[in-house]
Amino acid sequence: NQDKFDILDKKNAEALLGGGEKRIEAQHKKGKLTARERVTLLLDEGSFEEIGKFVMHRCKDFGLDKEYYLGDGVVTGYGTVNGRIVYVFAQDFTVFGGALSETHAEKICKIMDLAMKNGAPLIGLNDSGGARIQEGVMSLAGYADIFYKNTLASGVIPQISAIMGPCAGGAVYSPAITDFIMMVENTSYMFVTGPNVVKTVTHEVVTSEELGGASTHSTKSGVTHFSCANEVTCINDIKKLLSYIPQNCEDQPPFLPYEPSDEIRASLDSIIPENPNQPYDMKEVIDIITDADSFFEVHKNYAENIVVGFARLGGRSIGIVANQPAVMAGVLDIHASQKAARFVRFCDCFNVPLLVLEDVPGFMPGTNQEWGGIITHGAKLLYAFCEATVPRITVITRKAYGGAYDVMNSKHIGADMNYAWTSAEIAVMGAKGAAEIIFKREIAEAENPEEKLQEKVDEYTDKFANPYRAAHRGYIDEVIKPSETRQKLMRAFKMLETKVANLPRKKHGNIPL
Ligand code: COA
Repeated sequence: NQDKFDILDKKNAEALLGGGEKRIEAQHKKGKLTARERVTLLLDEGSFEEIGKFVMHRCKDFGLDKEYYLGDGVVTGYGTVNGRIVYVFAQDFTVFGGALSETHAEKICKIMDLAMKNGAPLIGLNDSGGARIQEGVMSLAGYADIFYKNTLASGVIPQISAIMGPCAGGAVYSPAITDFIMMVENTSYMFVTGPNVVKTVTHEVVTSEELGGASTHSTKSGVTHFSCANEVTCINDIKKLLSYIPQNCEDQPPFLPYEPSDEIRASLDSIIPENPNQPYDMKEVIDIITDADSFFEVHKNYAENIVVGFARLGGRSIGIVANQPAVMAGVLDIHASQKAARFVRFCDCFNVPLLVLEDVPGFMPGTNQEWGGIITHGAKLLYAFCEATVPRITVITRKAYGGAYDVMNSKHIGADMNYAWTSAEIAVMGAKGAAEIIFKREIAEAENPEEKLQEKVDEYTDKFANPYRAAHRGYIDEVIKPSETRQKLMRAFKMLETKVANLPRKKHGNIPL
């Protein structure tokens, strides 16, 4: 038996070396970890169970019949993160540059199937030169198999993609379908075609980093949700993200133990400036309302006029969507609508209750926005809220103007509880704009137009620049002092724990894309 055990030990040792020591060294020189080192960092110590360690490719072309590596360029299996099962694949750049072959894809598909059958998150650590060029269409077929499974898994299990090296061509579309993308700064990039092709086709000269690095995708395109300083932060961010979300769509998010205490937050009572046109930082409001240090922002540097992310409220995991008056007055534009809509849909897929903090002057005017399709994109956010069946609470902190009032999780589109601070202004538009339109003639004909305008502005302000009209109608459930917000929200989310809401039976909706 010893001989047989020796054979196994030898093969295991060979597999652990991937593409060999030289290539491991080269990987380290680039400031990158190997696939196995990444898996070890991600999973609880000793929890990794590898699947398909001895798989080899079947290609006989271009000399590949003489070049085999156990595992074929991807490490796959399952393990635990803080005691919870996850499935993981990590592409091994030391084997054919992590390029995807037929068998490499089969290994990924195998763990995707297991993740689906057993209802646990799938985590992909990407580091690959793309399709295994020697295999041609077999490799492309492998990608398509993965895309198809990503799509079927969407909304069933959370799927997280970390980009820790190249991810180019067709390869980008698997991460793109998954729920969250994390990119490592300076060592990862994503693009459909690289700088050389770009130069040939559009004559633009651009570096890989400029075209598709973490900074580009976290600020300009919004393709990545997180930009991570290095691989260790990236893996820690994956673990942190997992702590807010459930194992699958039938499961509830983890609930941390919480000792009830004084939930009044007096500092909120003075956070809204006297002048309604003066900004304040909504992130400060979020930090004060939620459990200490619990806010985990998603898409931090993209469309900063809206803030989205996970947090905890008395130990409960919640998703927050908040207008940011400190950036472009918190106006809703194309990117903000897309960003928030995607986040709302994630939370709704995975039973994360939603909190909306609203201070919105409306949708962004202008040809840029109209020609870019703000109507279609703004509708995404409206649609996403309308469709969400998770507990939904809105707090209007200041402005709730125009169509944006309806869109931002208003009572009318299915919010469960709507609060307004005493500083709330719920109206079709700001008082000055409103007075100028409806009293145009009166103002023009007045002896002193300035005075008349002010009189009319005051009149409109009196009527609408407050939360009471809406509260009289029941569109607002309660007008509250800011300091009471945390307490009110904790009670309301508790009350909504047993919420049941079903959408009409359909194949699937047709969200404006
Ligand atoms: N198929 C097969 N082998 C590949 C590959 C691919 N798509 N991409 C890289 N490799 C191999 C290289 O031949 C090299 O093999 P070696 O270790 O035996 O020398 C190894 O992976 C590392 O590649 P290398 O080019 O030395 O690494 P790099 O860090 O300098 O560059 C890339 C990385 C990804 C930019 C570069 O390899 C590349 O452009 N690859 C092709 C990308 C592509 O067009 N893919 C197909 C479209 S999806």
